[in-house]
Amino acid sequence: MFTRDLGDGVALALRDLSTVERMHDLTVKNLDRLRRWEPWAQAEPDVDGLREFTRARMTAWVEGRSIPCIILVDGVMVGSVGATINHYSQTVELGYWIDADHEGRGAVSRAVAALLDEVFEDRAVRRAEIRTGAENTRSRALAERLGFVHEGTLRAAMPVGEVRQDVAVYGLLADSWPVA
Ligand SMILES: CC(C)(COP(=O)(O)OP(=O)(O)OC[C@H]1O[C@@H](n2cnc3c(N)ncnc32)[C@H](O)[C@@H]1OP(=O)(O)O)[C@@H](O)C(=O)NCCC(=O)NCCS
Repeated sequence: MFTRDLGDGVALALRDLSTVERMHDLTVKNLDRLRRWEPWAQAEPDVDGLREFTRARMTAWVEGRSIPCIILVDGVMVGSVGATINHYSQTVELGYWIDADHEGRGAVSRAVAALLDEVFEDRAVRRAEIRTGAENTRSRALAERLGFVHEGTLRAAMPVGEVRQDVAVYGLLADSWPVA
């Protein structure tokens, strides 16, 4: 329903129902590395469950509570990025992951920056958050690169498999975006 060109072959598109099979295959390919950080990646994904998840996110999108997107590089789906909006607190929480073969090239940073442009300019959102495993150095680096401030660490806040991980909370205020 929309595609936004972010330059250098990177684009953002709506994560609608047409993405389900491709997202399933990409998730299976990356499951071993996702399992370390993502609670939802512990079990083998099934297409029907993914379709229901995607449908729920699309409903939230229609209601203005979510912006679920895929990341494309040269027209091929390589990852996922999403914004979950809380209108009561005027906040947004961001989540993301990318295929191992496309990691380390700035594609996720571009995609998250585009979502921040959208929520801060067009919607009544005043604060963005990224919550990430405290030991997830790549995810923390992404947050810091975009100007998020580490505001604290929640102890044993997220169950990932057998372990409860500490969670680093990063915040960015609309007034400080875009970062100079
Ligand atoms: C976390 C994750 C999404 C980060 O992806 P990433 O590709 O490292 O993130 P970015 O898009 O910011 O790319 C950063 C790298 O691209 C480089 N880069 C190149 N061009 C860039 C640009 N225009 N803008 C920003 N960075 C750029 C940076 O220097 C950096 O390189 P480095 O890794 O050598 O330091 C990825 O590691 C991942 O999918 N991990 C598994 C799942 C996960 O942890 N998800 C997050 C849960 S909270």
